[in-house]
Amino acid sequence: MFSQNAITALRSARSVVVLTGAGVSAESGVPTFRGAGGLWRTYQATSLATPEAFAKDPNLVWEFYNYRREVLAPLEANPGHYAIAAIEAQVPDFTLVTQNIDNLHRIAGSKNLIELHGNIWRVRCTNSACERFTNSQENRQVPISPLPPRCGECGSLLRPHIVWFGETLDGNAIRSAVKAIRKCDLFIVAGTSAVVQPAAGMPLMARQEGAYVLEINPERTDLSEALNESIQEASGVALPNLFEVAFGG
Ligand code: OAD
Ligand code: ZN
Repeated sequence: MFSQNAITALRSARSVVVLTGAGVSAESGVPTFRGAGGLWRTYQATSLATPEAFAKDPNLVWEFYNYRREVLAPLEANPGHYAIAAIEAQVPDFTLVTQNIDNLHRIAGSKNLIELHGNIWRVRCTNSACERFTNSQENRQVPISPLPPRCGECGSLLRPHIVWFGETLDGNAIRSAVKAIRKCDLFIVAGTSAVVQPAAGMPLMARQEGAYVLEINPERTDLSEALNESIQEASGVALPNLFEVAFGG
């Protein structure tokens, strides 16, 4: 179980950052990327989730996202998501940085949320001169039709507000995350294999900046050794426990 250091760190923290990956949504039924049954292996996402694929055949890429929307639409947040939202409500300053696009953190009530890789329910314009190029809009239609969807402002193609392979992340999102990491006392990394940058570098950055860094993952990762503490447990079990011992009763 958690060390007294972790519990004290959470109780006394003025500023907390939580970084999550696909593993936090595994107990909601979202397939992870790596490991057994990885979604991306099955659906060749590495070839579909690219700007090149979209340029060549936008309808095919949109069909893939329609499929992913159908898979994600009925899924519910799990106790891990709720525990993260509950921690946010207890500490003075809190930032959640997620690599997940499934929107489940927001459904669970997380407020200060940085979605590094975008959000499956958002779309944006492909025309860089259009205001919807930067302002993505929520669109929960399942499936989106007719294909391909077009921008109501300028008529250009709309695309999923998702970071594709080969694309760079939103600079503002990274800057906000780094700012939060620099000032946090406690950093919790949960459900990520920590192999995809820049998220993978964030736990060590937090450690270097003096935060207590706690990992939650049923498997050890390349990071585990370098952090203050690593708990080999599912996040849907470990995070509610951590909240309970720190703030419960
Ligand atoms: P991965 O699929 O790489 O890693 C999921 C991690 O979750 C693994 O380390 C598992 O051991 C762990 N895990 C599994 N079940 C868990 C549970 N119940 N509780 C806690 N952890 C559990 O997913 P990410 O690290 O999120 O990028 O992958 C990072 C990025 O790679 C994704 O955001 C995606 C992909 O390329 C983009 O789409 C841009
Ligand atoms: Zn437009």
